Amino acid sequence: MLDIKFEKSKNLKPIPDENNPLVFGTIFTDHMFVMDYETGKGWHSARVTEYAPISLEPSAMVFHYGQEMFEGLKAYKTQDERILLFRPDKNIERANNTNRRICIPEIPKEDFLQAIQAIVSADRKWIPTKPGTSLYIRPFIIATDPYLGVRPSNTYKFIIILSPVGPYYKEGLNPVKIWIEDDYVRAVKGGIGEAKTGGNYVASLASQVKAHDAGYSQVLWLDGVYRKYIEEVGAMNIFFKINGIVVTPMLNGSILPGVTRNSCIALCKKWGLPLEERKISIDEVYEAAQSGTLEEVWGTGTAAVISPVGELRWQEHIMKIKDGGIGALSQKLYDTVTGIQLGEIEDTLHW
Ligand code: COI
Repeated sequence: MLDIKFEKSKNLKPIPDENNPLVFGTIFTDHMFVMDYETGKGWHSARVTEYAPISLEPSAMVFHYGQEMFEGLKAYKTQDERILLFRPDKNIERANNTNRRICIPEIPKEDFLQAIQAIVSADRKWIPTKPGTSLYIRPFIIATDPYLGVRPSNTYKFIIILSPVGPYYKEGLNPVKIWIEDDYVRAVKGGIGEAKTGGNYVASLASQVKAHDAGYSQVLWLDGVYRKYIEEVGAMNIFFKINGIVVTPMLNGSILPGVTRNSCIALCKKWGLPLEERKISIDEVYEAAQSGTLEEVWGTGTAAVISPVGELRWQEHIMKIKDGGIGALSQKLYDTVTGIQLGEIEDTLHW
């Protein structure tokens, strides 16, 4: 159990007016959680303190070799003012998997949860309540040794910041147009693709710029070896409904194990829908689009929850899905996941 000091901010900020749309990730609350690590001493000095700039040496290892991890999850306020976290145990488990992969010391799961609860509780009045909004929780750890050699750091900072958010994509639940990338790759098996660390996201930027310039919102990634099996879409996992069967790429070492991915699989199974976690090639998707059996495509992630795909562009081929509209299953998954997150639908899966 952590002994968390509370240093209340003397500069409390105005809470955003709920009548103005919240743009994802632009506003931060009054406080942040901070805890330090030193080899030999372990994690120590847990505190909730003012959200403010932090001071680091320019030589801090995180700036040079990217030893950092992050997570993303959300808190919701119910109509009767309860605060709900959605499956924080899954994020904490994944955080420690990431930590092991990039040599960051693990954080005991009870302490991690206590830290999240402490900061969310401190800034609970910042949790927005309009439909489609939530309080995004961003835990992260950075390597802070002032050192230019390449090795794991001996000191770290664990920080949690909070941001009241609206939809991740400006399109909201409206279908996005996706560019299929067949030049760059996001990750390969044995690399860091299944870890939630900045390196995977910086690797995606050049393709994202290319896609944006061509009028597309995001990129669909193919595998790095055969350049034909589908991996992820943007920063999300991807699902297809082909001829009545839900198909999603199986976790293979280069795909991030998404919490929303896991939740959608569990819901489809609960509803008795045929679901396959397997390799799926771009040729198979193209053939399904050609034969009219590609019924729905959607991305899943914490930030966007469900993001329907209305168009896929692969080389010179354009595949329109649902005539660019929202599929019934994508909509049902969105309504059910967000309904459970908001405490409005009975949580029979105990999330
Ligand atoms: C998520 O949807 O959970 C993500 O990882 C997106 C985030 C990088 C903003």
